[in-house]
Amino acid sequence: MNTPEFRVFGTAQAVASAVAQHIAAAVQANPAATLGLATGKTFISIYAELIALYRQGGLSFAEVESFNLDEYIGLPAGHPASFRSYMEEHLFSQIDLPANSGHLPGVEGDIEQACRDYEAAIAARGGIDLQLLGIGQNGHIGFNEPGSPFDSHTRIVDLTPSTIAANTSDFPEGEVPPPQAVTMGVGTIMQAKEIVLVAIGANKAEALDKAFRAEPSLDCPASALHNHPHVIVYCDQAAMGGK
Ligand code: F6R
Repeated sequence: MNTPEFRVFGTAQAVASAVAQHIAAAVQANPAATLGLATGKTFISIYAELIALYRQGGLSFAEVESFNLDEYIGLPAGHPASFRSYMEEHLFSQIDLPANSGHLPGVEGDIEQACRDYEAAIAARGGIDLQLLGIGQNGHIGFNEPGSPFDSHTRIVDLTPSTIAANTSDFPEGEVPPPQAVTMGVGTIMQAKEIVLVAIGANKAEALDKAFRAEPSLDCPASALHNHPHVIVYCDQAAMGGK
C-alpha cells in the first residue's frame, strides 16, 4: 500500500487556491496535458481560482484536452444541473480550452458504445496526466458507489439514495437527480499518472478517514487509491476531523 501525501489547509479557500495552483503548474509544465476533471460543490471555488490564474496570463488550455468523470443519464440537453452545464458555466466558457476539447461521458443513444469510445479517447491521448477527484460522503469517487469493482471502467451505474440526496440541492426546486449516470470506473481513475483528491468540510471527515486509514475495501471506493503510486490529498482541517 502507498500512503498519499496530505496537504492540509486552515480554510476551504486556501485549499481551493492551492489546488488551482497545482492544476496551473501541471498545465504550464505540459501545455498538452490531458486532465481528468470533476464537478460538485468542492470544485466551484477551485475552478474560480483557476480562472483567476488564467486571467493573470501565462497559462493556456489551447492544447489541453479534458475528460470529466461522470454525467447524469436522462437530463435534457442544456439542463442546468447536468455536468456539461456545470463545466460550461464554471470553467469551459471562461478559459481558452477549444470547444471540442472538453469531453464528458456520452449519455445519448448507444451509451454502452459511448462508454467504450470514452475509454478509447482517453487511451488515444496516452492516458490522463492529472486526475481531479472529490469524494462522496459514502466514499465514492466519480459515481463509483460502494461495491464498485476496483478494475471497473466507464459504465452505466445506479446512484445510491445517499448520493441522490446529497446532490438534490444542485437541482431546481422540486427536481431530484436521475437514478442513473455514466462514470469513469475505479480502474479508469487508477490509470491516471497523478491523482489529486480534494475533501473540504467536516461532512467528508468520515469518508476520508475510511479511505486512507484502513485497508482498501470495496465498501469505500476511494480506498482503491492506496494502490496508486502518486496521490495527493488536499483538504481542510475540518475534513481531517479537526486535526
Ligand atoms: C463529481 C463527482 C463526485 C463528487 C463528489 C463530491 O464529478 O464525480 O464524486 O466529486 O460527490 O461532491 P461535492 O464536491 O459536491 O461534495
